[in-house]
Amino acid sequence: MSLLTRLLALSLLISVSGAKFSGRPGVNYGQLGNNLPSPSDSVNLIKSLNAKRVKLYDANPKILTALNSTDITVSVMVPNELLVNISKSETLSDDWIRSNILPFYPTTKIRYLLVGNEILSSTDSELKASLVPAMRKIQRSLKSLGVKKVKVGTSLAVDVLKTSFPPSSGEFKEDISGLVMKPMLQFLNRTKSFLFVDVYPYFAWVQDPTHMDLDYALFESTNVTVTDPVTNLTYHNLFDQMIDAFVFAMKRIGYPDVRIWVAETGWPNNGDYDQIGANIFNAATYNRNVVKKLAAEPPVGTPARPGKVLPSFVFALYNENQKTGPGTERHFGLLHPNGTQVYGIDLSGKTTEYGGELPAPENNEVYKGKIWCVVAKGANWTQLGEALSYACSQGNNTCDPIQPGGSCHKPDLAVLHASYAFSSYWAQFRKSGGTCSFNGLATQTIKDPSYGRCEFPSVTL
Ligand SMILES: *[C@@H]1O[C@H](CO)[C@@H](O)[C@H](O)[C@H]1NC(C)=O
Ligand SMILES: *[C@@H]1O[C@H](CO)[C@@H](O)[C@H](O)[C@H]1NC(C)=O
Ligand SMILES: *[C@@H]1O[C@H](CO)[C@@H](O)[C@H](O)[C@H]1NC(C)=O
Ligand SMILES: *[C@@H]1O[C@H](CO)[C@@H](O)[C@H](O)[C@H]1NC(C)=O
Ligand SMILES: *[C@@H]1O[C@H](CO)[C@@H](O)[C@H](O)[C@H]1NC(C)=O
Ligand SMILES: *[C@@H]1O[C@H](CO)[C@@H](O)[C@H](O)[C@H]1NC(C)=O
Ligand SMILES: *[C@@H]1O[C@H](CO)[C@@H](O)[C@H](O)[C@H]1NC(C)=O
Ligand SMILES: *[C@@H]1O[C@H](CO)[C@@H](O)[C@H](O)[C@H]1NC(C)=O
Repeated sequence: MSLLTRLLALSLLISVSGAKFSGRPGVNYGQLGNNLPSPSDSVNLIKSLNAKRVKLYDANPKILTALNSTDITVSVMVPNELLVNISKSETLSDDWIRSNILPFYPTTKIRYLLVGNEILSSTDSELKASLVPAMRKIQRSLKSLGVKKVKVGTSLAVDVLKTSFPPSSGEFKEDISGLVMKPMLQFLNRTKSFLFVDVYPYFAWVQDPTHMDLDYALFESTNVTVTDPVTNLTYHNLFDQMIDAFVFAMKRIGYPDVRIWVAETGWPNNGDYDQIGANIFNAATYNRNVVKKLAAEPPVGTPARPGKVLPSFVFALYNENQKTGPGTERHFGLLHPNGTQVYGIDLSGKTTEYGGELPAPENNEVYKGKIWCVVAKGANWTQLGEALSYACSQGNNTCDPIQPGGSCHKPDLAVLHASYAFSSYWAQFRKSGGTCSFNGLATQTIKDPSYGRCEFPSVTL
């Protein structure tokens, strides 16, 4: 072999075997929408975002088939409902792996199996107690069925922490610390898996936007830093601060070295009038910056773990119109349901110029005024009828004005009646946590829908 051939062979060897474990973010493929592209179109869209990893919230066979023979690695999930039973039965666990993993593995590159989603945020103590036993059962099933490349984990929300600031004070909540987290960390350490955490600087910032710098949450701060008084570590962004709180919480109970995987992070590109900071400008800024940080070579890490790879999944592939809760929940997507990008984004982290100005942020400060809750564009008329009946069955005299003879009965149009019912419902229940959502059938407006003698109840901010 000539020197040149040998060099070529060597470099080929390095590039094949040396597919280094990368921090390049993947994407969460949530499916809570009735208008989303097909699995195979979705796989093409994931490729167009330059994502090499995808996380599913189930083990959808159509999606796992669409991912067959691609180079995208996949994280699948055991549904929360099955945990308690699986924790008690190796047979059930084996069956689940047999029917959900084996048909696709290894040609679909399934690599991570998350047992439940944010289980420890539940109030159900039986469920919480079943988590680690279920993880162990699943691990054993994978082993006995010859699935070697799949690591087992579970995703945690930040509410598993009792304290998180300063980061060095990070500590798991007492009720789960010894009972769940210790055995879980032992399991994760033994199996060389990861602590999968959902980290949203947006939700931390939005709780106290007057005292917390928005730029610090968006990785844009040049003048705000936070120094941890115990470790003297200096933080330049909220994301690192939140990750390190987990690092110190693990250290506190004896597992300082378990690797962290950011199972979800992201920023909403839209929301409701009563939610600030959810806009395209901030979402693009946050996601572009988090990708730049996480995809960087060599890896940046965090102040407590400098230089360490921090693998991650951005939330989410699509705006999902059937997610419940406040409007931000339905607007975390990198893509519109028609497959176009909400703003320029490239998960390889290689793009630095996106072209095109972002729209200026309009809601970085709290809106003050009246808001109504009305029927959203494109709402399904069949479902509207059910939502109308539901709203009218709640509260005090919620729908009196739309009854025959009432001031809002005429014109006798279902869409007007439903809008009235939604506004009336929400005006009564917002203070106790009611949302203007009705499974995506409703939306907030600051344009008063009242007409003639018909006055719509409103929420005042
Ligand atoms: C769990 O097992 C119980 C008892 O066998 C059964 O009644 C229940 O339907 C199972 N739950 C699920 C979600 O499969
Ligand atoms: C995956 O693709 C391979 C060919 O690459 C094929 O043999 C196999 O049947 C496919 N599996 C599924 C589940 O479609
Ligand atoms: C974690 O795992 C490593 C081996 O991967 C082992 O050396 C270490 O002792 C473990 N730590 C704990 C606290 O069990
Ligand atoms: C940081 O700089 C920005 C922009 O110059 C300014 O608005 C903000 O008040 C500064 N914050 C602090 C804490 O100095
Ligand atoms: C932090 O800095 C203070 C003051 O410079 C010093 O006294 C202390 O020992 C430092 N702590 C650590 C953990 O380095
Ligand atoms: C895709 O959907 C978005 C949001 O509804 C819309 O603004 C855009 O014009 C649509 N693009 C195409 C090509 O349909
Ligand atoms: C409307 O909702 C009904 C009931 O959920 C469903 O059967 C129907 O397919 C929906 N129609 C459209 C156009 O989505
Ligand atoms: C309905 O009226 C009762 C009695 O005035 C009151 O206690 C209750 O809070 C009202 N319900 C709502 C949803 O406002």
